[in-house]
Amino acid sequence: MSGIPPGPAGRAAVLCGVGGRLPERIVSNAELSARLETTDEWITTRTGIRNRRAAAPGEATSDLAVEAGRQALRAAGGEPADTVLVATATPDRRCPATAPLVAARLGLTGAAAFDVSAVCTGFVYGLATAAGLIATGVSERVLLIGADVYSSIVDPADRTNAIIFGDGAGAVVLRAGTPGEPGAIGHFDLGSDGDAEDAIIIAAGGSRSPVTEHTPRAERHFAMRGKEVYRHAVLRMTASSRATLAAAGWRPEDVDHLVAHQANLRILHSVADATGISRDRCVRHLVDVGNTGAASIPLALGHAHDTGALVPGDRVLLTGFGGGLTWGSCALRWPDLSPGTGRRSTGGKDPR
Ligand code: UT7
Repeated sequence: MSGIPPGPAGRAAVLCGVGGRLPERIVSNAELSARLETTDEWITTRTGIRNRRAAAPGEATSDLAVEAGRQALRAAGGEPADTVLVATATPDRRCPATAPLVAARLGLTGAAAFDVSAVCTGFVYGLATAAGLIATGVSERVLLIGADVYSSIVDPADRTNAIIFGDGAGAVVLRAGTPGEPGAIGHFDLGSDGDAEDAIIIAAGGSRSPVTEHTPRAERHFAMRGKEVYRHAVLRMTASSRATLAAAGWRPEDVDHLVAHQANLRILHSVADATGISRDRCVRHLVDVGNTGAASIPLALGHAHDTGALVPGDRVLLTGFGGGLTWGSCALRWPDLSPGTGRRSTGGKDPR
């Protein structure tokens, strides 16, 4: 891709395909209870999670991302993307980014490709990035993948984090369209608070503290101050959801689906309660797959789409939260993604 034309007026990024990939291996609460000091009851009541997936040895973020991306591109009608974004906190390597490799493996060599680093909020940040690239005419068709292999960074002996996180990848395709049509991505709210950088952290391995033979084991692994993160997650996703609702001109009761970062079922319910959205509007994919980081929102969207819960025209509120700290939300009307509609979507439900 070359050249950055001035932004053509009236362009918007429109969602036109979803896809996802989960590793084969299911890790149940029973399996974790057998090797860690925990119980199915503790995990279920504290988090709502029953199962999560684990990548096979040697299975990397790009492997899951390629399959999720392939599925999303196919669902969107098979046209190639000119831009590939991978939101991840677990890139295949520290350098280079994972997105160019994913693009090449999808036959998209030459596409613009880079990673979005905003931990579990990465997918929402990626949506905003894609929306900007399309609105300004830089990109015509963006493949955005959220993918994480948390099993590569969580200490398997850390009972608090090992029970929460799972591996997976979810993807969407965004095409150039017009604001207001079903699937148009808009009304973003994004934010961060770097003062709480160490609430979710891998302390060693970056330029601040390269890994040496003296690096303690705890600093090489993912660490999270669970209770503090929990509080922030509820506050930030609630405030961000409210801001996005106000920008979209929606009332809480207008929301058909709240697709929040799948961190903890109690967090989802607290955000719904505080925002004034009925709990039964929460998409709850985490029960089966845990917290899949940047993959959690697109995987939850794909799950809701595949099970028929998402109907064209539905009002969908996405909200994410993660390390950084970072957070963000976005509103969209669900497009018609039935086969053959990947290029032009038409809403099936009367506007309310
Ligand atoms: O994706 C980024 C965003 N992440 C999140 O939003 C996660 C937010 N945090 C959480 O979801 C919750 O804080 C956790 C699920 C991580 C932990 O739940 P909690 O209710 O906050 O538990 P806690 O960490 O305060 O621990 C309570 C007790 C402690 O024991 P004591 O000190 O009271 O004796 C822990 O040692 O539970 C203990 N504990 C466990 N017990 C059984 C911690 N993990 C476990 C476990 N099994 N797996």
